[in-house]
Amino acid sequence: MCGFCAFRGSCKYDYYYGEPQAALSKVYLIVKSLPERQAPGGFFYWREVGMLRNLTMKNQINIRKAVENDVAAMVELWKEMMDFHKELDQLFTRKATGHEGWTDFITGHISNDDSCVLVAECNNQIVGQCLGFVSEYPPGITSKRYGKFQELAVTAKFRRFGIGEKLFSEMVTWFREHGIKRTQVRVSVHNELLTAFWRKMGFRPYAETLFLEI
Ligand SMILES: CC(C)(COP(=O)(O)OP(=O)(O)OC[C@H]1O[C@@H](n2cnc3c(N)ncnc32)[C@H](O)[C@@H]1OP(=O)(O)O)[C@@H](O)C(=O)NCCC(=O)NCCS
Repeated sequence: MCGFCAFRGSCKYDYYYGEPQAALSKVYLIVKSLPERQAPGGFFYWREVGMLRNLTMKNQINIRKAVENDVAAMVELWKEMMDFHKELDQLFTRKATGHEGWTDFITGHISNDDSCVLVAECNNQIVGQCLGFVSEYPPGITSKRYGKFQELAVTAKFRRFGIGEKLFSEMVTWFREHGIKRTQVRVSVHNELLTAFWRKMGFRPYAETLFLEI
């Protein structure tokens, strides 16, 4: 059944076929963006629906450490993330063979004790991933070690279910267990979605990366 219009079979919302959770999420986001007066059932009703949606989905998501067998699925998620970035900035255009390099890169991190690679799984499908690793600032300052977030991605149909936040929280736990007190992430200034996400997680800017084509 299409989760959006409840039509049994193919309909114009076929994208949602078999995914009522995702459909509910999209409807909720549209309604949430409406002024209170226009929201069917009132904003507060929809806020409850939103909370229920998040709770239901969160219970179905399993966050665990990645293993080598996950890498093929993770590469597909990486490609999706890169193509999303490329729409905003051509710098992120991936090479035809780029996934091979990324495969080696992430496999190396999976087997590195100073790194943590997490995946979010729903019904045996990898729907999200995140890499965290211990890094160091240049010499000369008191607290050199910090935790770096990288490669965070949630596949499009599963966004806004709290999966990104769940990956973030698990990674924070791992960093704390490794004595890390400060974390950071590099964010494209063109990616407003991402900026909104990291700000919501409590991050704030402390430096600016500049570039010049020569
Ligand atoms: C960024 C990303 C990982 C977020 O994952 P997610 O599972 O959708 O995030 P969550 O549902 O946990 O969102 C947590 C909060 O972040 C903020 N947020 C997330 N997506 C947002 C959006 N599109 N617009 C505004 N705020 C957003 C909201 O405050 C949200 O809380 P709310 O839903 O209660 O309002 C996901 O959108 C993604 O994969 N984006 C493309 C890839 C990418 O840019 N990766 C970053 C590499 S460093």
